[in-house]
Amino acid sequence: MTNFTEGQWINWIDQLSEQDYLVIDNFISDELFQQLRTYFMEVLQEDDFSKAGIGALHLHTINKAIRGDQVFWLDKPRDEPVIPAFYQIIDELKDMLNRYCFLSISDYEFHMAHYPVGTFYKRHLDQFKERSNRLITLILYLNEDWQPRDGGELTIYTEQGAKTIAPLGKRMVIFKSDVLEHEVLVTNAGRNSITGWYLRQPVGLGFL
Ligand code: OGA
Ligand code: NI
Repeated sequence: MTNFTEGQWINWIDQLSEQDYLVIDNFISDELFQQLRTYFMEVLQEDDFSKAGIGALHLHTINKAIRGDQVFWLDKPRDEPVIPAFYQIIDELKDMLNRYCFLSISDYEFHMAHYPVGTFYKRHLDQFKERSNRLITLILYLNEDWQPRDGGELTIYTEQGAKTIAPLGKRMVIFKSDVLEHEVLVTNAGRNSITGWYLRQPVGLGFL
């Protein structure tokens, strides 16, 4: 569970519905932050990340001119001890969104993402044309001591103009997947996050 009150959540959810995005600093405890970082580094050292693609399923292609990150999908069996603690928070937030935003989130999918030095992700929307069940995007940054010279900012394109958000550790960015275009600027340091999506219907039922 998080330390946030229901009033705090409602406040944030209001912001999300009005501005299409929301930034929450210090979203997780130091302890969970360090545990997630440790797990992330283990997977990275074992070289278990794979290059991220574009498009869903059979249309999946890898194009380094569009995105250069590497991803590792977090499985539902959740056998890694730290992942249930993370998913507990994700469940809590899902319940709030369903209750106060009248959304019908029924599932989610998350991966860890690593952007090596020199990589980026060009401006895009997170909803694939051929599979539109991504409702809300969530990005939790796992970078310690991120400096302005490290670049790698997330730029979001809102009705009020472009906004640049540094990928600071423990910062959570949440936005509407179908409306908010965004991009990741070139990073000058290895850039790590857990990124995921609340879904309208269970993964795998996309063809029904
Ligand atoms: C994505 C994405 C942004 C970020 O994975 O689709 O846009 O800041 N990530 O990592
Ligand atoms: Ni994106």
